[in-house]
Amino acid sequence: MEDKKRFFITTPIYYVNDVPHIGHAYTTIAADVMARYHRMKGEDVLFSTGTDEHGQKIQRAAANKGMTPEELADKTVDNFKALWQKLNISNDDFVRTTEERHHKTVQAIFNLLKGKGDIYKGTYEGWYCVPCETYVPESQMGEGRTCPSCGRQLEMMSEESYFFRMSAYQEPLLKYYEENPDAILPESRYNEIVSFIKGGLKDQSVSRTTISWGIPVPGDEKHVVYVWFDALINYLTVCGYPDDERWRLYWPEVRHLVGKDIARFHCVIWPAMLLAAGLTPPKQVFAHGWWTVEGEKMSKSLGNVVDPFEMVDLYGVDPFRYFLLREVPFGLDGDFSELAMVSRINSDLANDLGNLLSRTLQMVIQFKGGVVPHFGEAGELERDIASMAERSFGAVDVAMRRFAYDEALKNIWAFIGRANKYIDETEPWKLGREGKGGQLDTVLFTLCESLRLISLLIAPFMPDAAERLWNQLGLPSSPQSLGYADFRWGNFPPGTAVKRGSSLFPRIDLKRWEEKKRERDLKKGRPVDPGEHEEEISIDEFKKVELRVARILSVAPVPGTDKLYKIEVDLGYEKRTIVSGIREHYPPEELAGKVIIVVCNLKPAKLRGIESKGMLLAAEGHDGGLALLTVDKDIPLGSRIH
Ligand code: ME8
Ligand code: MG
Repeated sequence: MEDKKRFFITTPIYYVNDVPHIGHAYTTIAADVMARYHRMKGEDVLFSTGTDEHGQKIQRAAANKGMTPEELADKTVDNFKALWQKLNISNDDFVRTTEERHHKTVQAIFNLLKGKGDIYKGTYEGWYCVPCETYVPESQMGEGRTCPSCGRQLEMMSEESYFFRMSAYQEPLLKYYEENPDAILPESRYNEIVSFIKGGLKDQSVSRTTISWGIPVPGDEKHVVYVWFDALINYLTVCGYPDDERWRLYWPEVRHLVGKDIARFHCVIWPAMLLAAGLTPPKQVFAHGWWTVEGEKMSKSLGNVVDPFEMVDLYGVDPFRYFLLREVPFGLDGDFSELAMVSRINSDLANDLGNLLSRTLQMVIQFKGGVVPHFGEAGELERDIASMAERSFGAVDVAMRRFAYDEALKNIWAFIGRANKYIDETEPWKLGREGKGGQLDTVLFTLCESLRLISLLIAPFMPDAAERLWNQLGLPSSPQSLGYADFRWGNFPPGTAVKRGSSLFPRIDLKRWEEKKRERDLKKGRPVDPGEHEEEISIDEFKKVELRVARILSVAPVPGTDKLYKIEVDLGYEKRTIVSGIREHYPPEELAGKVIIVVCNLKPAKLRGIESKGMLLAAEGHDGGLALLTVDKDIPLGSRIH
């Protein structure tokens, strides 16, 4: 164990005032893929996530819900844990800032810094953003004293406070980043942070007296530790600092995955705190981009927050994991749309990978009785595929070192594409017929072996699908447990009986999907597709339609039909009969006396022997409901509508 390489990866600890959404799912899935990848490389991995439960924001959210902060936290934690299970997240630990072990670590760091003189007592006065739990300097305030990051109103606060002497760490921090240019990724973020630090670091307030929901400052209990100071230390808590010596093994290997919203906390305050504590700054912080939804910012008030539980129920956990990491380069912002996900499922998953497996198994069953043959002689094509397999493996590794998940997947898919092309090049179904049995064996072996390696390559991204693929090939054990030690071309055990199962990634029928999506949007009260539009018309064309106000005099069902009414209307200057199909929507008594709009110059038509002269106007809802048009003020019958 001692000489094993170690890899420590973390997600942010999420606030418990919110339900988990795709933003949280994104960071956590990315961390999970990285953890699984390094486990498959044979490393000793520590992967942690958790929840941030203290501070004013949580205290207020709980009060608004009529709960204690503890009750709110417990409830949300269950939600997060359920989501991580659903998303197949393989975290080794889940840390809550309300845990005893975390209190101990926070107090240990606080005492350590205070003992060194890096924490001192003073007074703080300033504009504070409660939702972001941060003071905002005047220079950064938005118009009307608003928070530059969330746009909400700032509040003036003045309090006795402990301060962290961050100003003393400006130079050491710059030196650290100079010597470790890949400590902040992507590069653009590195440059941004370095220039921010060069702009000067101020001492940081790290305690509050205005709230009680937090970790007490040791020896001065009217203060609680500022929520960010508290939260950042979770990363030391999970590796056992200070009592469990394990931290010495893991801490130097830590990588924090965070969203760009909290990059500064992780790349400025946190490493300064660590330097002050005599610890090394994080080996790497990767600040990824931001997801919008169908072009808009995700927000509760817009009602467009994407529920990851729902996405998994609809599309499956692996396609969801795949989509998030494939669609957008990890450092860039991205836009989430279900249609884009469905397209990728159909093209990359069902078509490229799913078909490669089903075609291969089909041929092994048809030509070889379901048993994978021995490899014959390698020709140029086979040598090409074998070398591409090895190159893909190398390229995936290069990409994963840079957290370039999308690049890694592109490389894997290039190999899948190569294998599909190989089927077209060799036309195995002809080889058997032409008595080229040896060549056929070589082709089928090559395909099965490619699929074995593909299963190993996709395993960190899509653990379930990789395992199903592995099982259908008839292979023992699992890609995860074998890891990359077994990544060698040619190791497929000949004589293996394949076990064809259900399709890896069923194709989604677009037409049916669209209908279902519409129904879902309607149920959620979201704007839906307006359906087909008519071509443009001129005002003169519109004027040709003679619309007038009328009153319904009487209503009678048309015998022998379920849908039709015979309706007498009064236009003021004349009375008319109109036959209309609104019987399912209105009982007769609701109609009599109603003032409505009638198309008067429609050609008369005979319906069930009754001459209908005109048409009533009604709006038809997406759900097929109907509402008659009327006027919103008294106006003489027969009035024209323009
Ligand atoms: O900030 N796109 O917690 P939080 C991408 N408790 N990622 C998103 C996202 C989006 N639209 N929305 C959220 C906190 N995220 C603190 C962290 S760590 C010591 C304390 C992800 O619940 C992203 O990882 O507000 C972001 O950084 C994080 O959720 C913020 O989670
Ligand atoms: Mg947030």
